[in-house]
Amino acid sequence: MADKTNDLMEKIVALCKRRGFIFPSSEIYGGINGFWDYGPLGVELKRNVKHAWWEDIVRRREDILGLDCAIIMNPKVWQASGHVAGFNDPMVDCKACKARFRADQFERYHLLAADEVPDQVPSVHEQWQRFKGVEPTARFVAETGNDTAALQILVRRTLDSKRAKVRTVPCADGPAIELFVQDGNKSYYMNPTPVEEGLAADDRCPNCGGEFTEARKFNLMFDTHAGAIKDDANRVYLRPETAQGIFVNYKNVLDTSRMKLPFGIAQIGKAFRNEINPRNYTFRSREFEQMEIEFFCRPDQADRWYETWRETRYQWYVDHGLTSSKLRLRDHEKDELAHYAKACADVEYEFPFGISELEGIANRTDFDLTQHQEHSGRDMTYFDDETKERFIPYVIEPSGGVDRATLAFLCEAYCEDEAPDEKGTPRKRTVMKFHPRLAPIKVAVFPLVKKEGMPEIAQKIYQDILAAGLSCFYDEKGAVGRRYRRQDEAGTPFCVTVDGQTLEDQTVTIRDRDSLTQHRIAAEKVVEYAREKII
Ligand code: GAP
Repeated sequence: MADKTNDLMEKIVALCKRRGFIFPSSEIYGGINGFWDYGPLGVELKRNVKHAWWEDIVRRREDILGLDCAIIMNPKVWQASGHVAGFNDPMVDCKACKARFRADQFERYHLLAADEVPDQVPSVHEQWQRFKGVEPTARFVAETGNDTAALQILVRRTLDSKRAKVRTVPCADGPAIELFVQDGNKSYYMNPTPVEEGLAADDRCPNCGGEFTEARKFNLMFDTHAGAIKDDANRVYLRPETAQGIFVNYKNVLDTSRMKLPFGIAQIGKAFRNEINPRNYTFRSREFEQMEIEFFCRPDQADRWYETWRETRYQWYVDHGLTSSKLRLRDHEKDELAHYAKACADVEYEFPFGISELEGIANRTDFDLTQHQEHSGRDMTYFDDETKERFIPYVIEPSGGVDRATLAFLCEAYCEDEAPDEKGTPRKRTVMKFHPRLAPIKVAVFPLVKKEGMPEIAQKIYQDILAAGLSCFYDEKGAVGRRYRRQDEAGTPFCVTVDGQTLEDQTVTIRDRDSLTQHRIAAEKVVEYAREKII
C-alpha cells in the first residue's frame, strides 16, 4: 500500500512543483516545515475554490453575509473561547536528536510473531477493504539484527518514506493482505495500519531510536507582541481559526444589517497553528486558510439546520468534482464530540495518503456567544419579534479548509491516460481534470503556425476571452500537440486552434480536455461557447 499511494502522491507533488501549483515556502533557504507557497497556477486554482465558495455561500444566498476580520485580536477573545487554556496537544521530544512528536498521534505498528498471524488476518483484511483501489501486495524483507526497536523504526520508515534499506518483493499469490518483516531468523507479521493510541513506555524515536522526554502540553497558538515592549501584557496571538472573529462581531452585523434569525456570517481567511507534526503535503500546515460559516438560529431549529448544512456542504464537494465514492460524511461518535458541541460530522476525502477530514459541520449550541457575553459583559441575546422571546442563538458551524479542499481537487484531478498526437499516434499524457469552475486557465488559444495571419486572428480571440473575464492563455510556440499537452497538465478545459480553414471560413477548432473530441465553431462564437461551458 505504502509504495503505491506514496508513488501517486509523489507524482502529484512533482507535477505541482513542475507546473507552478505549489512550492515549498522559502525553498532557496531549504524550505520551512509546515509552510507552502502557491505558484501562478496554484493561486488561480485556490482563488477559484474560494470564489466558488463565496459565490455559493454569500452572494447567491439571502440569509448569509460576509465578514473580514483582523488576524490579531484582543487576547481576551482567546481566553473567552477557551483557546488559551485548552488549545493544546501533548508532545514529546527525542532526548537525542530533539525531534518533536505528538504523543497522542504516535504511530506504532503492531508486530506479531509469525505464528500469531492466522487469527489476525481476517480483521486486517477488513481494514484493507476500507482503502478502495489499493493493492496490499508487498512483502518486506529487512535485515535489522535482533533489535526490536530498530525493527519498529525500520518498518515505520519503510511506510513513511523510502529511506530505509528494504527490499520489496511482490507477493506471488492470492489476496495478499499481509506484510511480513523478517528479522534475522524470526518473521514478524505487521498490521499495516498504524495504531494511533498514544505513546507507550518503551516507544523510541522513529528517527534515531533515542529516548523521549515526558509528554508535555503544547499550546498550538503562535504568539507575538503588539507594540514595542515584549512583555506578557503585550502578548497577542495569530488567530488559530476565523470563527471567533465572527462571534465577536455577531452583534455588529446584526445591528447594522437588521437580519433576522436564522442567518449566517461567513468569512474566508488565514489561520495559524503551530502544529507539532505538519504532514501530508499541504494537508496539515502551520499557516492555512479557512472558509467558515457561523449560522445563527433558534435553539429549537438547530437540529434541522444542522442536518441541512451537513447535506449542503457534502453536496458542494460533489458538485465541484470530488467523486462521491472517495467522499464520505462521517458522524462523530458521542465520545469524539468537543464538550460544547451537540453534534458534529466531518466531510472526509480519500487522499492517496488515507481518508482525512476536509470540513467539519458542528452544532456548537450557544456556547461561544455565552462565553463572549460572560467575558465581555456585552449582551449577546436576540429578541424574537414574533414570539417575544429573548435568548442566545444556537450556532451551526460548517468549517472548511481552503488548502485541504484545493489539495483534494488536485488529487481528484490527477489522471494519466493516452491522447493521440498530431499524427494520430496514441501517447501517454498527464491531465488534470479540474471542474471547469475551478480550472486555473479556462481556455487556451493557439495559432497552428506563426504565419499566414493566424497569430493575428488568435490574438483577437484571446483578447476577447480576456475581456469577457475568463482566464486565458495564448501560446504560439512549438508543435501544437505539445501545446495541448502543456494545457492538459495545467487542467485547461478547452483549447482553441486557429488553422488554415479559419482563413477560409472563419471557424476554429475547439478541443475538449477530457473527451479529446474536436469540433469547429465560428470564431466569433468562442466567447459565448466558453462562457456557457464554464460558468
Ligand atoms: N472553527 C472550527 C475549527 O477551526 P477545525 O476542525 O479545527 O475547526 C476546520 O478546523 C477546518 O480547517 C478543518 O476541517 C481543515 O479543513 C482546516 N484545518 C484545520 N487545521 C488545519 C491545518 N493544520 N492545516 C490545514 N488545514 C487545517
